[in-house]
Amino acid sequence: MSSTPSETGPLRLGIAGLGTVGIGVVKIIQREVETLAARGGRPLVITAVSARDPKKNRDADLSGYAWETDPVQLAKRDDVDVFIEVMGGHEGAAKDATEAALALGKHVVTANKALLAHHGQALAELAEKTGAALRFEAAVAGGIPVIKALTEGLAGNRIKRVMGVMNGTCNYILTRMQSAGLPYETVFEEARQLGYLEADPNLDVGGIDAGHKLSLLAAIAFGTRVSFDKVELEGIGNVSIDDINLADDMGYHIKLLGVAQMTGRGLEQRMTPCLVPAESPLGQLQGGTNMVVLEGDAVGQIVMRGAGAGEGPTASAVLGDVIDIARGYRRPVFGIPATQLADPVAARSATPAPYYLRMRLQDKPGALAKVATCLGEAGISIDQMRQINQPDADDGDAIVLIVTHKAAPADVSHALSQFNATGVLVENPVAIRIEEV
Ligand code: NAP
Ligand code: HSE
Repeated sequence: MSSTPSETGPLRLGIAGLGTVGIGVVKIIQREVETLAARGGRPLVITAVSARDPKKNRDADLSGYAWETDPVQLAKRDDVDVFIEVMGGHEGAAKDATEAALALGKHVVTANKALLAHHGQALAELAEKTGAALRFEAAVAGGIPVIKALTEGLAGNRIKRVMGVMNGTCNYILTRMQSAGLPYETVFEEARQLGYLEADPNLDVGGIDAGHKLSLLAAIAFGTRVSFDKVELEGIGNVSIDDINLADDMGYHIKLLGVAQMTGRGLEQRMTPCLVPAESPLGQLQGGTNMVVLEGDAVGQIVMRGAGAGEGPTASAVLGDVIDIARGYRRPVFGIPATQLADPVAARSATPAPYYLRMRLQDKPGALAKVATCLGEAGISIDQMRQINQPDADDGDAIVLIVTHKAAPADVSHALSQFNATGVLVENPVAIRIEEV
């Protein structure tokens, strides 16, 4: 038997997952009893917890809480009004327990972007059918309250574009490569030693984690069903220290940048390495920090910067959601009722942009002209061009950098494919989009 959540008296919390985020939530609740009760209008009480290993030392006193081995049973308990899912994973326990809680009309707060990126629509429909809240501030950009900003503070705007650096590990790797002059492989290993990488590192460096987050922001911003499968994804594994340094010389920094915008050709969602102006807020972003840029027709541009991960910042976001629930505040999961979210048509290619092109050519008469001809025939106009004589370049090679005027991605791909036929390229060319931020 279970009861629907009580709207008065103590708000009873069940926490599934006692790792970095779960223990962070426990600590804040234990430390800030009176403040949280005042802000929520009622006491917050943890009644039960769950994790895999009951014997693990967890850096918090959990003796006052019931222990459930099975998170689904935790979600179903009579004495749990809010199920806090901080286990992770988009299938298995996290999904089963979240569904169980929502089916019973119990509120859910989760930090799990993977779960929502894959099952957000179905979970939102279930929550709205049973009258439960489903909140996920912690899932996107950790401590930055971007979900609240987008769903509430900017509700009067037509959102034009959402952008951001939403994976701290990637930003750490890229900025550390630049500051220390180290290659990707060395800094990747350093990030692993520091414990920054997810258990599956490809979630970070493959852009998947950040793509999950972008897909959630896009759903709210554009009133569309979460469509992670339509995010154009490219990780940072091919970003070289040469490109970081050469881009820097030209006044740009390389970021794993997420961009979502509704265009005349459909919804564009990209999470790819981009050059951004070094002096821009995004260009200046250092280390593991996140930044989200929101652009509304009425408000203009808003820049939010802060910790995208870690015990305190992520727990802060979870508690913000819990307090809203304690107060009785409810809103549709993605800002408008889930059944009204549109099925987005995905833009088949990204909006035209300038491109940074780097190539190693045979340094002989006519080589550059052949490359320029390929660009011209693809309808691409050159904005800047520079030849660099690197000390380590083999005799007879030249590094050529080109910045194009705005070009369609398909035209850039076509030009690159034509370069091979010129016979003057010594290695595969590199093309990176330059984002106007
Ligand atoms: P974590 O440190 O690995 O902790 C995961 C916790 O979940 C552990 O306590 C684990 O139990 C428990 N767990 C896993 N599978 C379980 C199962 N089947 N049954 C019961 N318990 C289970 O993870 P985390 O870093 O706290 O992340 C939790 C969630 O928050 C993830 O969705 C993550 O993406 C998200 N998130 C994390 C951060 C961050 O900074 N860490 C930031 C934003 C969002 P044991 O301890 O017994 O192994
Ligand atoms: N792996 C993520 C990051 C954790 O590096 O930003 C927070 O979602």
